[in-house]
Amino acid sequence: MLVSMKLVRCSFFACCLFLFGSAHAEQVFVTTGQLLDVESGELHPARVILIEDGRIVQIGTADELARPPEARHVDLSNLTVLPGLSDAHVHLTSNHDQHGFRRLAASIPRQALTGARNARITLEAGFTTVRNVGAPGFTDVALRDAIADGDLPGPRLIVSGPPVGITGGHCSDNNLLPPHFNAVGEGVADGPWAVRQAVRRNVKYDVDMIKTCSTGGVLSRGTQVGAPQYTLEELKALVDEAHMHGRTVASHAHGTLGVNNAIRAGVDSVEHASFIDQEGIRLAREKGTILVMDIYVTEFILGEGEAAGILPASLEKERQTGARQRQSFTRALEAGVTLGFGTDAGVFPHGDNAKQFSRMVEFGMSPLQAIQSATLVNARLFGLEDQIGRIAPGYRADLIAVADNPLEAIETLERVVFVMKDGKVFREP
Ligand code: ARG
Repeated sequence: MLVSMKLVRCSFFACCLFLFGSAHAEQVFVTTGQLLDVESGELHPARVILIEDGRIVQIGTADELARPPEARHVDLSNLTVLPGLSDAHVHLTSNHDQHGFRRLAASIPRQALTGARNARITLEAGFTTVRNVGAPGFTDVALRDAIADGDLPGPRLIVSGPPVGITGGHCSDNNLLPPHFNAVGEGVADGPWAVRQAVRRNVKYDVDMIKTCSTGGVLSRGTQVGAPQYTLEELKALVDEAHMHGRTVASHAHGTLGVNNAIRAGVDSVEHASFIDQEGIRLAREKGTILVMDIYVTEFILGEGEAAGILPASLEKERQTGARQRQSFTRALEAGVTLGFGTDAGVFPHGDNAKQFSRMVEFGMSPLQAIQSATLVNARLFGLEDQIGRIAPGYRADLIAVADNPLEAIETLERVVFVMKDGKVFREP
């Protein structure tokens, strides 16, 4: 009897939801201690935010904007609220303690599950949108869709699928095994037409953007950070094909020539850009290329990399790269190049992404500029500038809260205490 009463009541509620649920927007009313306007840098005291169906509809003072009786109340009145952060360079499907040969042990399905775990960690750290640059087996596409369907907690993802790169290059990443294994990276393509085909294949399987490599890398065996990968002709074909399909291109590049080739070919962002010279800086400014410089990761690689399995040759390459990259960051900043926020999380522990903010400030940015790189600039790079990166009417309700004023204590971003994405709360104080 009890059971059937419960069932009757449940189905009654289900009917109500069905009948009226769609008519009534789901409202959330947020009260803030102070609200950071990331465009102007102004901190507005005691603002309230009204959210409907995952979007911000109105912002004002408590006098201007009353709480609708049916709205759920989220009280952040002793915290500073700012837009959800973003990271343009992560590897959710890899872990920081599995470098070098250890990496070979992870099957593609296992990598997908690793990605599910790291997606949650990243979101809880305050990163509501991230760009995943390089994943075999399209695990990143699956992860993006599972998160979007509400199956898993995680940031909004922008994904590349398998990186497109030369035989034996940093992006193909198959140089650990001897020749008789015949290991070839999924996105390996040599020559303009093969490159176009690789882009088409990734587009076919629904990637958002293309990741390529125009120099060798630190963590790939047998590649040189200074050596270009791909000719300008190949890179131009890649960019042309990607743009034709409405996809942006991110090119990994450390060495001077490879950075310049990528910019000349028209990529949307250069990742790392460690040895960029004056010519590269001039070109980036001229073409509006965004540099995504991961200047925190060097501390992890040189400090904990050996224990994590990073090979001695890679540690040596990092010693030649990390400090130079930080100098280049300062020079590019001073020259007025647009700098996005990207960390290479996955090389170091996911969830530590925000450690890079204080390094960006140490190497020349104001705290506001560092926050802008992870909000306004990245939003533009992702083509989502009318959706994310700001707290404004019509924007997605992606909010985070911290205890201190980040303009005075940028490290407070390493301790995010509240996270909302699309109006849903994923972390509470
Ligand atoms: N994934 C990059 C590579 O292997 C990591 C570079 C890290 N070092 C740096 N200084 N940003 O090249």
